[in-house]
Amino acid sequence: MTGDVILEARNLVKHFGQSGWLNRNPVVQAVDDVSLEIRRGETFAIVGESGCGKSTLARLLMRLIQPTSGEVQFDGAPVSQAAGPALQDLRRDMQFIFQDPFSSLNPRMTVGKLVAEPLEVHAPDLPAAERQTKVAHLLRQVGLQPDHAGRYPHEFSGGQRQRIGIARALASGPKLIIGDEPVSALDVSVQAQVINLLGDLSRDLGLTLVIIAHDLGVIRHMSDRVAVMYLGRIVESGPTEQVFGAPRHPYTQALLASIPGNKVDQTAHATGEMPSPLAPPSGCRFHTRCPHARADCTTDQPKLKAAGHAAHQVACHHWQRIGKGVKAPGTAPRRPEAEARFELYRAASEGGIVTHKENLTERS
Ligand SMILES: Nc1ncnc2c1ncn2[C@@H]1O[C@H](COP(=O)(O)OP(=O)(O)OP(=O)(O)O)[C@@H](O)[C@H]1O
Ligand code: SF4
Ligand SMILES: [Mg+2]
Repeated sequence: MTGDVILEARNLVKHFGQSGWLNRNPVVQAVDDVSLEIRRGETFAIVGESGCGKSTLARLLMRLIQPTSGEVQFDGAPVSQAAGPALQDLRRDMQFIFQDPFSSLNPRMTVGKLVAEPLEVHAPDLPAAERQTKVAHLLRQVGLQPDHAGRYPHEFSGGQRQRIGIARALASGPKLIIGDEPVSALDVSVQAQVINLLGDLSRDLGLTLVIIAHDLGVIRHMSDRVAVMYLGRIVESGPTEQVFGAPRHPYTQALLASIPGNKVDQTAHATGEMPSPLAPPSGCRFHTRCPHARADCTTDQPKLKAAGHAAHQVACHHWQRIGKGVKAPGTAPRRPEAEARFELYRAASEGGIVTHKENLTERS
């Protein structure tokens, strides 16, 4: 991680729908005043409950949708104004990995054609023979065989299909890849392999990764920094070890408390469901579920501020009087499936022998 900023969002807002005195349709406040900085070479994670705005934020960062207000800068240039060649460069430099690799791969195209497609767009002058060599190299890079190029997506396992998706993302030579739940559709043992592959690629190619994931274990394992979202806003962010080791926001504490096996302070649990983004609560959006809420929480919206350590930020009026909530997360016994995943992580990161379930079930 070098530390210079590759992607920056300033006061991003995305509202879906319009309302006015002629049009009374409610507006979905999907992303509300989000600012963040992603550093070159780091793995940055975004976590939060379903519907909190993670995918909308990812789409805004990639300029797949336009913000209602706010600005995104990629490599120092504003993305909302990119057009013509600048927009094509942006499409080459920022790639996306989808949650469901099957639906994102055209079933009528061979793997060779699928991986060659981005090359045809971004390197149209590349001679056909060199393109084929490049496709073979990309397939090897993601742990597949060059002779897989002649097969169709349905002939592969879920993990292999995600590898094809990663090869496609790598084909244009991107600087940054955003993965929206890239492993959540995969079997647990295959998840570890794909995560390790992403980690290796990011290290070997100097790639910046932005990973959206529900699974806190995945995030803790692979990210350098993390942002926790609640109802369209970032409520806590910082180095992963700090946010997970000393969570300051009651919502982060509640997320960690929901991991079975963590030793939890009884005050760490949140109550009720996440309110609708059509009518977010006033003041602190978490106040309807927060066990620590006071009167000012219902009227004053807290801003992200340093929580003891400059890099660790929290949006809570009362973080200083709230304990850490979760005692020694990660040191408590885990569920067997989580333990199996961490065993795979450890074995892979220590260079040990990993039994890949995917290889056992792979079609030859
Ligand atoms: N095109 C759209 N039109 C209207 N509302 C939308 C649109 N896209 C997203 N939303 C709404 O915006 C909110 C945030 O959605 P988003 O998909 O970003 O959440 P998420 O955090 O990615 O959820 P999940 O974890 O389930 O994928 C939700 O309430 C969703 O219904
Ligand atoms: S500002 Fe108030 S309601 Fe919001 S998280 Fe902090 S204590 Fe809870
Ligand atoms: Mg999503």
